[in-house]
Amino acid sequence: MGFGPSIQCHYKYMKLEKNDLMEKIISLAKRRGFIFPGSEIYGGLANSWDYGPLGVELKNNIKKLWWKMFVQQRDDIVGLDSDIIMNPKVWEASGHVGNFTDPLVECKKCHGRFREDQIGGTCPNCSGKAFTETKQFNMMFRTHLGPVEEDDNVVYLRPETAQGMFVDFAQVLESSRKKIPFGIAQIGKVFRNEITPGNFVFRTREFEQMEIEYFIHPSDWEKYFDHWLEQQKAWLAAVGIDQARIKFVEIPDTDRAHYSKRSIDTEFVYPFGQKELYGLAYRTDFDLSSHEKKSGKNLKYKDPVTGESYLPHVIEPTWGLTRTVLAVLLSAYSESEARSGKEDAVHETEVTLRLPKELAPIKIAILPLSRKDELIGPAQEIYHNLQKNWMCQYDETASIGKRYRRQDEIGTPYCVTVDFETANDKSVTVRDRDTMKQDRVKIVELVEYFREKLEPPRT
Ligand code: GAP
Repeated sequence: MGFGPSIQCHYKYMKLEKNDLMEKIISLAKRRGFIFPGSEIYGGLANSWDYGPLGVELKNNIKKLWWKMFVQQRDDIVGLDSDIIMNPKVWEASGHVGNFTDPLVECKKCHGRFREDQIGGTCPNCSGKAFTETKQFNMMFRTHLGPVEEDDNVVYLRPETAQGMFVDFAQVLESSRKKIPFGIAQIGKVFRNEITPGNFVFRTREFEQMEIEYFIHPSDWEKYFDHWLEQQKAWLAAVGIDQARIKFVEIPDTDRAHYSKRSIDTEFVYPFGQKELYGLAYRTDFDLSSHEKKSGKNLKYKDPVTGESYLPHVIEPTWGLTRTVLAVLLSAYSESEARSGKEDAVHETEVTLRLPKELAPIKIAILPLSRKDELIGPAQEIYHNLQKNWMCQYDETASIGKRYRRQDEIGTPYCVTVDFETANDKSVTVRDRDTMKQDRVKIVELVEYFREKLEPPRT
């Protein structure tokens, strides 16, 4: 059973300097293939980020968990996947053409353009203090439908997924036979021509949202507002976001979006400051009534029991998906002093991503102790078998210690080691990322073993 130099982690976490942590996350994300700078061979494109092999797994796992919690496991929510480019009247009715703006100023000295409310009166480029008059800059990306670039063909890339759910409200209601209260959920790309994007994937011009529009009787809004705040808290726990860095902030009248009567933001203390992670808004009947007026279509709901006919009101919990990736990585990152091999060996810093198992990009790594044929054969067979159920990685290069560290760094919860005893006892050693405990498990029982570990029934 014994193999190679063992790694003993002293779970003594080092204190990470704030900006250090951001740099470490960005470097790890690039090195291990979570997130790369986009179009890099052409010098990149400002604030464009591509999700690599591990990043796309992490992002997909977040989406899957969200869908499971809020669509699959609930009777009152159905999904939707609406188009990114919609009839431009949608954005006139929603108020985005008129109101989706940020205050833009230009520095008179260096001509840099900035969001007025983010610079505190001083140019971040040249420290200049003189600016042009504030202009309202609309953040929607415009393009043209078809081959002729004229005003009649102007369309927008959606700046939120929400409007698809309002515009399709009547069709979803009719086809799904849901009754109020019920919700529509959607995950997808959105686009905003942000004046000052930055801080890695925190603020980008292309990003993804996971949103729910929950349709209710107007008299119930407080009850469902509270319900969705609780659901957002449950989500934070499920994805392992550090509760100590979370603040719930009531947004005052003056700062609320044009459609909201009450908003609570979930803020996260990032290394660059406390900023928004998620939002929760009481959108009233603002959207449905605007679309009813603009389209001339009746969007009222008739209660089958009371006969009352009314425009439903809406509670909207919204989650930035790409911002979730950042908060999850920041929360999961940990360093510990480790000692490989002999007592007097050099203490090295080891990185572990303590991701919830459901989010880990790779669930199991299969590591033959040596590259001898007698180990490689069974190790590959185990790999191909487990791969049918879970994302696995097979790795036979470098020392076993190094291979464990590679897996810890990307958050793989389990490593399976095939050793010289395997041929005799038809068993392997399974090492747990968090407890470092090692179990000897029969090869024929491995699938069942991992099913219990990785897919415990949700309550
Ligand atoms: N439908 C409501 C809505 O779009 P929002 O607060 O403007 O509300 C929702 O956006 C979420 O989208 C935010 O809480 C944040 O997580 C994410 N988000 C907003 N702007 C972003 C950007 N430029 N880059 C990345 N994520 C962003």
